[in-house]
Amino acid sequence: MSETTATTSTAGGTKPVIIRTIGLQKHYQMGQVTTQALRGVSVEIYRGEFICIMGPSGSGKSTFFNMVGGLDSPTHGRVFIDEVDVAQLSAVELAFLRCRKIGYIFQQYNLVQYMTALENVTVPMAFAGVESDEARERGLALLDLVGLKERWFHKPIEMSGGQQQRVAIARSMANNPQVLLCDEPTGNLDLKTGAEIHALLKRLNTERNVTIICATHDHRLLNICDRMMWIRDGQVQRLARRDEVTVETGGIGGDEHE
Ligand SMILES: Nc1ncnc2c1ncn2[C@@H]1O[C@H](COP(=O)(O)OP(=O)(O)OP(=O)(O)O)[C@@H](O)[C@H]1O
Ligand SMILES: [Mg+2]
Repeated sequence: MSETTATTSTAGGTKPVIIRTIGLQKHYQMGQVTTQALRGVSVEIYRGEFICIMGPSGSGKSTFFNMVGGLDSPTHGRVFIDEVDVAQLSAVELAFLRCRKIGYIFQQYNLVQYMTALENVTVPMAFAGVESDEARERGLALLDLVGLKERWFHKPIEMSGGQQQRVAIARSMANNPQVLLCDEPTGNLDLKTGAEIHALLKRLNTERNVTIICATHDHRLLNICDRMMWIRDGQVQRLARRDEVTVETGGIGGDEHE
């Protein structure tokens, strides 16, 4: 996979672009019915930024994630990661991208129930060919990072939802990805635990320069993200920097978009 560093000139200077989508469309055909889940999404996401994606249920957030993460292909349009056109990748290159460059975090944690926390975290390392001793060491370091080193031998059923999501975050970091795609990571958690997960994502963003793209219904993420994107009916309705969004009593300027 060849890589070049693309940049975009902005009012604040020149920022490297890590993800670029151009005219992204996704149509789902179910019998006679066609759903246009994405209807032309063109967006640039900068390296090292924390961007939130908001929008009503069914607006296309998860579909956008599936396209950007190389989990599904668009009906029309293109996705570039580090200026590499994902559609041009061979199956092996695409697998490499998914395994090494992107980490995935979902609402449902998606841990393997019969594996310990450490085994769950090291699964992606095995796919990447990391030796087992090194994988164990790195896995324990990642569990330490998320505050669960002492629980490395626990299975998901023995952990709370917040702890399971921490394991899932550690797993998403297994191969040092440049981008974390988080699809409603706090959707199943109470407010306090959700805030702890937000803080952990923010740490990964600032300390490790991981680009975070987070779909959420939680407006509190406004406090820590750099930009927010609102999607409605498969289109970008608004894209704003945090300082452009005014926080008002009882809500946020932009609530009208949801
Ligand atoms: N595999 C699929 N087959 C058919 N239709 C689908 C499929 N996946 C999504 N859709 C449809 O595409 C539209 C967008 O769905 P999507 O899951 O992207 O929404 P979302 O914004 O993530 O919603 P939520 O906030 O509820 O997670 C919806 O109308 C949905 O029913
Ligand atoms: Mg969704």
